[in-house]
Amino acid sequence: MEPDTTGDPAALRILLLENIHAVARHALEGQGHAVTALGTSLKEAELIDRINGEGISVLGIRSRTQVTARVFEACPGLVTLGAFCIGTNQIDLDAAGAAGVAVFNAPFSNTRSVAELIIGEIIMLSRQLGDRTREMHQGQWRKVAAGSNEVRGKTLGIVGYGHIGRQVGVLAEMMGMRVVFHDIVQRLPMGNNRAADSLDELLLEADFLTLHVPETPLTHRMIGEAQLGRMKRGARLINASRGTVVDIPALAEALRSGRLAGAAVDVFPVEPEANSSDDFQSELCGLPNVVLTPHIGGSTSEAQENIGREVAGAIARYLTAGTTAGCVSFPDVDLPRMPGTHRLVHVHRNVPGVLGEVNRIIAQHQANILAQVLGTNARIGYVIIDFDAPVAEAICADLGGLATTIRARALA
Ligand code: NAI
Repeated sequence: MEPDTTGDPAALRILLLENIHAVARHALEGQGHAVTALGTSLKEAELIDRINGEGISVLGIRSRTQVTARVFEACPGLVTLGAFCIGTNQIDLDAAGAAGVAVFNAPFSNTRSVAELIIGEIIMLSRQLGDRTREMHQGQWRKVAAGSNEVRGKTLGIVGYGHIGRQVGVLAEMMGMRVVFHDIVQRLPMGNNRAADSLDELLLEADFLTLHVPETPLTHRMIGEAQLGRMKRGARLINASRGTVVDIPALAEALRSGRLAGAAVDVFPVEPEANSSDDFQSELCGLPNVVLTPHIGGSTSEAQENIGREVAGAIARYLTAGTTAGCVSFPDVDLPRMPGTHRLVHVHRNVPGVLGEVNRIIAQHQANILAQVLGTNARIGYVIIDFDAPVAEAICADLGGLATTIRARALA
């Protein structure tokens, strides 16, 4: 395996695809890199040609560019890949790890956007705003107070008290709501938020129930007929997590029967792949006080900008310090850089004895290790090593001769 001693990050060429927010380009150019930004995605063959033909070390994509095993195998010069989006399904992460390419995404950059949508929906549902505005657009004037409530003093139940759930809890409390949550992990309550003893207890208490869990076997249809049956008569349900978390026919029935007084749904078990004028169907369509949105919870300009800033920042930290915090293809390793130190990073296959081999080579150079941090997963080992003398490049060259080395990089 050829060692990569491109220690000077100013020398790197970066290709950004799919209209990534300009903040990313500016951040990376500010680090001295040469950035080419395109508005489109590229197909596999063209992607390989451009990466190799232009000497690209860093690639940035959003959700449309497929980065396959073939791309990683054919492009040994690729050092890191930024997924300027939330998901990473479009990337073969195993192949990325095996090729020594660190992949970063931005899973939490739209947290605030989702939380704000939930707050808006709580008020929409309690004032039947969806129905009133539709009627007005149809020329009907229906001034009614029945079924409309203030949210102050009402109880918001949050299922899944993670990044989004906690933000929602903080904002809801600022509107005077009582906030109770349920999570399978013990979570520190924010402000005056309170943990419920169980999901069942939460269902009994909530005037509004909002779901913020991931899609897992445990959360699959976790809100079905039985759970809806436990909810207060006239309660409202909000789901902006994943479409499979709620049993839609059971929800439609709870709305038709009047047990629930409204629902806001942003995510669906099956969602159209692209924007269209007639490609959406759901049993929820046409039901009163039901707000339906096309998976826009995290879709704001601010979230796009946050994604640009966060992923560009992660790439810059990886290039200059080897930090893999938040990396989805390597183990998570972080070691603060001390002035006057010389650093190398080494990606290797996780088999017994590699660190011994690495340290044997270091000893041959009579180099003094100031700090060494190793992280491993089932297949990959990643180590950051700091020296007190400029020996990193020479050691990197020797590490390249080890059969277990995937990539070795000396950092400036
Ligand atoms: P997170 O990982 O920070 O929090 C999820 C929480 O759910 C964790 O605290 C976890 O312990 C808890 N949890 C997991 N299984 C549970 C169970 N069975 N019962 C109770 N709690 C459980 O995730 P984050 O960022 O807050 O996202 C939450 C959801 O929102 C995810 O499904 C995500 O895909 C979705 N999302 C939707 C967006 C949209 O556009 N509508 C945008 C962003 C995220």
